[in-house]
Formats: sequence, structure tokens, C-alpha cells
Amino acid sequence: MCYDASAGSPAAPEPGLRTPGRRAFSLLLLAGSGLAALSACAPEAPRPTTSDHASGSASMSATTATTAGAGTPSSAASATPSAEAPPASPEATSPVTTPPAPAPSAAAARQHSLTDPASPWVVVNKHRPLSPATYRPADLAQPGVRLATSGEAALLNSTTAAAAERMFAAAAGAGVTLTLASGYRSYATQTRTYNGYVSSRGQAEADTASARPGYSEHQTGWSFDLGDGGGACSFQPCFAEQPAAVWARNNAHLFGFVVRYPWMLHTITGYYYEPWHLRYVGVEAAGDMNSRGIATLEEYFGLEAAPAYL
Ligand code: DAL
Ligand code: ZN
Repeated sequence: MCYDASAGSPAAPEPGLRTPGRRAFSLLLLAGSGLAALSACAPEAPRPTTSDHASGSASMSATTATTAGAGTPSSAASATPSAEAPPASPEATSPVTTPPAPAPSAAAARQHSLTDPASPWVVVNKHRPLSPATYRPADLAQPGVRLATSGEAALLNSTTAAAAERMFAAAAGAGVTLTLASGYRSYATQTRTYNGYVSSRGQAEADTASARPGYSEHQTGWSFDLGDGGGACSFQPCFAEQPAAVWARNNAHLFGFVVRYPWMLHTITGYYYEPWHLRYVGVEAAGDMNSRGIATLEEYFGLEAAPAYL
């Protein structure tokens, strides 16, 4: 296992992420939960399963669903649903998301749809499939950044591409190399990706690392996976300790990105830690999440947790 959870590791969660201690992390590893982070976003060739990871999905599936925001009340998480929020959606009907008072936050204003895949605030998770399932962004573009992939995987929607260009340039200015390792994935590509995981690991374990077709943020063009130009830790837990990931954790919000699948929050997001997977939500929301210490989109927008498919 390449993940070093020792004290002082640069992988220590940034402000806003939960901070499980070494014992908790050791238990996590013992439970095999680190497995799912391996190659989670590699589009075509899933890594072979390692024997010490075999029980990870079991711990995942046994997790009790929790409601986002419960126990961590925040004004953002209890934002007032707007007309954009679908009336029949869980977040619109769940009593725990009923706000005691509106908050002066980006989320409270609900500036963007949470369901339209063309919206920078669309929330896609195991409870919220893309609609339409075969959605393809109309404005896919290849950002002018260092690529570690090609073809459709080198594409992002135009807003995300522009933000990525700004972020990669800033990282380079700080002496940190970022690469675009995996961007847009069509429904067909995600089908192949997910099926590859199922073939090599079984469905339960695949579901902890790879989204089912029609359930992946990658299909929206708002997400991409970071590399660092080296590759030794690509799509592996030890990527969290690489300069690229450390820089991104500390600075991505300045460019509108969040680490979408934070450490130890799989009971909310549905996926184990992916320090390489960034999601664009805009500078205002990303900065707001960072300053409020809210690590997941589910909590920020007052949505229910999505640890498993419905
Ligand atoms: N690895 C993320 C969850 C995806 O497949 O979209
Ligand atoms: Zn990803």
C-alpha cells in the first residue's frame, strides 16, 4: 500500500475536510476501503484487484445512509429551495433540509440549477442520474493545458476548460505540474469503464470507485482527473501526497474547483477518496464551501446523502 498516513503527511486534509485520525484511517485500510480509490477514473483499463482490498465494498454497502447536512448544520446546507429546485425532489421534501432561515450564501441564492447537466451546480450522484442519461455537452473544448490523455478524455466543457487553463497556469507559476489525465467521458465510454471494473472486481466493489453509465460527473464536462506528469501515483491513494494534489487541495477553490470525493466522506458522496477528481462549481461556490468548511456538494446544497444506488 503506497498511502502513508503518517503525521505531517502533505495528505492531511485541507480546511473543510473531515480529519480522521491515524487510527481511523488504519481501520479504513483494514476494512479494505482504500481499494476503490485505485484507478477509479481511468477510463479504459481498470487496475487488477489486489487481495488486501477485497472487503472494501462490503463496508461501503453496509453503511447507513445519512442525510446530508445532518449533524453539520450550516446555513448553506439549509438553503431555501428556489423555483429551480424540482418540487418532487428529495431535497425539496426532506424535513431535514427545510431551512430555519435563508442564508446569505451562494447556495441560498440557488443561482444555478442542481439538475440541469449544463449547470455548473448540477449534482450528479447515486441518487441523481443525469437527465438525459446520454447527455453530451454542446460546448466541449480541449483546454490549453498539459495533457496526459487524448481524444474525448482531453475535452471539458468550455467553462471548465477555461478555468482549468487558469488553474494549471497558476500551479505552473508556483512550480507545480498539473496534467489533465481524464476529462469528458461519453455515456458509451462510461459504460465500458464501469463494465471493466465490474469484470475485474465485481459490481459491489466497482460501485465504490466507478459511476454507472449515466451517473458520472465526467459525462457533464464539469469534472476531470488530475495527474502530475509523473504517473507513479496516478489514480492511486498516494496521489494525495503528491505536490499536484496538495496544491490542488489548497488552491483549486480559487479557480472554482472542489475535490468532489473527499477523504472519509463516501457515506455522503458514494465514492472513496479521489484526490485527483476535481469538479468545477464556480469561484463563488467553491470559495464559499472552502471558507465554511463544507466538503461535499450534497451538504452544501442541502441534498440527501447518496452512499448507494436507489
Ligand atoms: N470515479 C468517478 C466516481 C466516476 O466514475 O465518475
Ligand atoms: Zn474522476
